[in-house]
Amino acid sequence: MRNFDENTITDAVLDRVGGAQDPRIKQVSEALVRHLHAFLREVRPTQAEWELGIGFLTRTGHMCDDKRQEFILLSDTLGASMLVDAINNSAGLGETDSTVLGPFYVEGPNVFENGADISNGMDGMPFYVSGTVANIEDRPLGGAVVDVWHADDHGYYDVQNFEEHGLAGRARLHTDAEGRFSFWTIRPASYPIPHDGPVGDMLKAQGRHPYRPAHVHFMIEAEGCQKLVTHVFAAGDEYLDSDAVFGVKDSIIQPFEEHAPGRAPDGSLRDAPFATLEYDFRLLPADRAAQAA
Ligand code: BEZ
Ligand code: FE
Repeated sequence: MRNFDENTITDAVLDRVGGAQDPRIKQVSEALVRHLHAFLREVRPTQAEWELGIGFLTRTGHMCDDKRQEFILLSDTLGASMLVDAINNSAGLGETDSTVLGPFYVEGPNVFENGADISNGMDGMPFYVSGTVANIEDRPLGGAVVDVWHADDHGYYDVQNFEEHGLAGRARLHTDAEGRFSFWTIRPASYPIPHDGPVGDMLKAQGRHPYRPAHVHFMIEAEGCQKLVTHVFAAGDEYLDSDAVFGVKDSIIQPFEEHAPGRAPDGSLRDAPFATLEYDFRLLPADRAAQAA
């Protein structure tokens, strides 16, 4: 086969990739070709525009290393991460809503006791975070692994600002027998996602800001349950309705309450203003997650 033109090229490519042995690879390859060709037919790029697009993806790849994942940012800012999340985590059986993982999770965070201060000396308003982990029938999940991470009060993650404090605002905790966890840290601020690369250029060209509302990330794993990846967002934040990565859901917005000096929920006496967040997480049993898939 040869002499392909605008009317014959799509079928020719579909025919070629349709020979894939693995049925999933065949399905994905065919869908990719159909949608890519439909995109090009709709947009009708000039040769120069197509080269610009290839250049954009090349710069995106070159920007990636073990500290910066520009392709995740691209997926997040185009709503692809939230769409994949919605496809895979929407059983709606009373489990806590999930949201994007983002690029700042670090595998194997340091383990802390409940009640510990995980801020590693970062400046900011002291922030007491506590809650419970249970299944959707409200059975407390003791021994659940609760990984938390958050930005500082200027909106930077420790891994972006490593020289200053090392790992900070990042911990692994384990729930007690009643499913409770707690820690002290500092109240995180809203922040711009990294926008000094091709994704930042794209946002600017699309007339968008790069900000995310203030939040604390949680990744929670308990035996027999589906892993939960989510955040809790600060109620009242100015970016809740325009999150750069489309991650906000009403059910995971909670007040970050500010308090005058005095007694904190853990009984300690604070001589400066502090903030608190309390959130109860509900995990989906793995068999229910499999049925819902
Ligand atoms: C984050 O919340 O850490 C994040 C999520 C998506 C893109 C950039 C940052
Ligand atoms: Fe974040």
